[in-house]
Formats: sequence, structure tokens, C-alpha cells
Amino acid sequence: MTGPAGPGGMPNILALDGYGTSRPPDVPLRYRLSSNENSYPPLRSVVEAISAAAATPNLYPPLVPYALTGRLAADSGVDPENVWVGAGSVAVLEQLIRGFAGPGDEVIFGWRSYEAYPIIIGAAGAVPVPVPLIGHDQDLAAMARRVGPRTRVVILCNPNNPTGTALSPGLLRTFVAGLPADCLLILDEAYREFVPARSAFDGTELLRSHANVAVLRTFSKAHGLAGMRVGYAISAPAIIDVLGRVALPFTVGRMAIAAASASLDQHTQIQAQVQETVRERDALIQLARGLGLPVSASAANFLWLSIGTDSGAFTERCAAASIGVRCFPLEGVRITVGSAQANAAVADVLNEYAGVLDLWTGVPDV
Ligand SMILES: Cc1ncc(COP(=O)(O)O)c(C=O)c1O
Repeated sequence: MTGPAGPGGMPNILALDGYGTSRPPDVPLRYRLSSNENSYPPLRSVVEAISAAAATPNLYPPLVPYALTGRLAADSGVDPENVWVGAGSVAVLEQLIRGFAGPGDEVIFGWRSYEAYPIIIGAAGAVPVPVPLIGHDQDLAAMARRVGPRTRVVILCNPNNPTGTALSPGLLRTFVAGLPADCLLILDEAYREFVPARSAFDGTELLRSHANVAVLRTFSKAHGLAGMRVGYAISAPAIIDVLGRVALPFTVGRMAIAAASASLDQHTQIQAQVQETVRERDALIQLARGLGLPVSASAANFLWLSIGTDSGAFTERCAAASIGVRCFPLEGVRITVGSAQANAAVADVLNEYAGVLDLWTGVPDV
């Protein structure tokens, strides 16, 4: 017996890779550094806000969280009509792709980058156009050359996941200026809070001169609210209007809204945590560099080791030390910056790995 056939014209869903769903390990690992989560315990005021919002599970949340939207708009120096809140920035990304790219339309992105991009594009029936990175960086020149009449959307990930590198603000401005006005640029800034001041870029700057840009931000990383699911887009009102039309209703829950709002009140504390994460990240990068390991210049809350064929063995070594990391077989390993204790455990594995390099595959593939 065969299952239900997809309606005519639908993409072949079974050809999509699906989001990386590795089975949880049999023995839980002590340090979870595989998903770029924030390792700080939740702030007390945030937990209190969530508890208060939990008192009315029988009620739908507001269709549009106007207060949070207004607050985010004010913080970004834009109008509420420029902001759209969704259940995580990946949900808003999905709405953007669904709203702007249909069957046959091309969507360009650097690769390797955030693994949800090709899945979301393919599920919308559009054509994913991955443009290889140069080293650890998105190749803006090659991406610009690839834009053609069928290109509807370009996604830039700044900083890029998993390599962590930030785009040069100058090159980014030039890229946007050369993009056709009918092509949407999605600037995914999920990790922007961790970018060092010297290469920091605020994507909302582009909104002043370009009506075809959407900036994505999230509460999942710097704010440590990945489990609450809150992200948002900042863009031109015409684009926000499309999001309002394609979004499913009531997906941003009351507790999520309360958590995000309470977290915005704790700006100083969040900033301090981010600074500490950045300090720990830079110390690990320095250590890896000192050991001669191929580590990228990450501007995010994770490290990227491009150790090629060693990636699997390195990941196993981490698991043996009770550290969960993200392995991209034959490419590299991504390690989230965690607590001081977790980072010390990572440092031990890096030291050990550098010491036995020749016992594994010899020189790592850079
Ligand atoms: C580049 C990038 N964009 C978006 C997301 C999704 O974040 P959210 O939790 O806001 O959906 C992630 C999550 O890891 C990410 O790495």
C-alpha cells in the first residue's frame, strides 16, 4: 500500500536532508556544547515573568505581541510597523522564504552555513543555490555573480554559523548596493551581540536606504531564551505586511513574550554575560591557535575547528570527556562556548588533540 501522494507541483520533500537530529547519547553528556545555546542560568526576573504568564494557559496569546514589538522597534530606532515577532528567528526566516520565494525561484546563500536554510528553501519549492565559502568566509563576490533573473532572495549569515566569521561592513554595504531592488536580502544576525566592536555591523543601517532588506534577530543566543522561541525581523513595512499574511496565528506564546520582555529589562546583566562569553571564546581561540590548530576567527558564541577527516575522531574524544559538540563529518567541528568549567574541559581536549595529531590523520585539513 502506498502512502498519500504529494499534491502536483510540490517539491520532493523526501529529498530534503532534514534538520540534524542525532540520537541523544545513551549516557547524558555533562557539557552540552553542540547547539550554540547560552550556558548561563536564567535571570530570576525572567523566571518570575514566565511563571506569572503561566497562570493563564487556557487563553490564546495575543495575535500580535504589540507591547514587545513596540519595545523592539524603539530599541532599534524604527517604527513598530518595521518589526515582526515570531516563534524564533528560524520561524520568521521560514515566513520570509514562503512569502518571497515560490517554485522555481532561486535563493542564494553561502555554504556551509546554518543548516536550516536549504531545508526551508526546498520545502517552499524554491531552488537552493549554495555558494561555497572561501576558507571560513562567505564569498560575497561569488554570491553577487550568481544573482540572476530567477534570484528572489539572498541570505547572508552574519556572523556565519558554523564558521563564526563576520562579514566586512564595507563589503556588505557594496553587496547590498549591487543587489537588484526586487531581490530580498535576509541578513541573519542571530549572533550579532558577540561580534567585536571593530567588525560590528548593525544591519538596520541598511533599512534607511534599501527597501529590500530584512534583518533577523533572536532571543535564543545572547538572551539565553532558546527554549522560549522568540525571534524577530526588522524590515520595510511592505515586507512586514507579507509576514503578517503568511504567519500561522498564535505561535508566540504568552510565556515567551513575557520572558523576552523581562530579558530586555536586564540589558546590563545580559551585556555582562555576553562579554564573559566573548572573553572565554577569545581565550579558547588563542589556545587553539597557539597549538597550531585550524580555528576560525569566530565572532560568535562558538568555535569552528576545520579539522576535516579528523572531525569524527575529535568528536568522539569530546564525548569521552562528556562534552557534546557538533560534528560536520569530513569538514570540521563546532564547539559552543560554555561555562568556565565546560571551556576548561574543551581546553583539555584541544591540548590532548594537538599532542596526538600525528597519531590520527597527521596534519589537519585546513
Ligand atoms: C544563524 C542562525 N540563525 C537562526 C537560528 C535560529 O535561531 P532561533 O532560535 O531564533 O530560531 C540559529 C540557531 O542556531 C542560527 O544559528
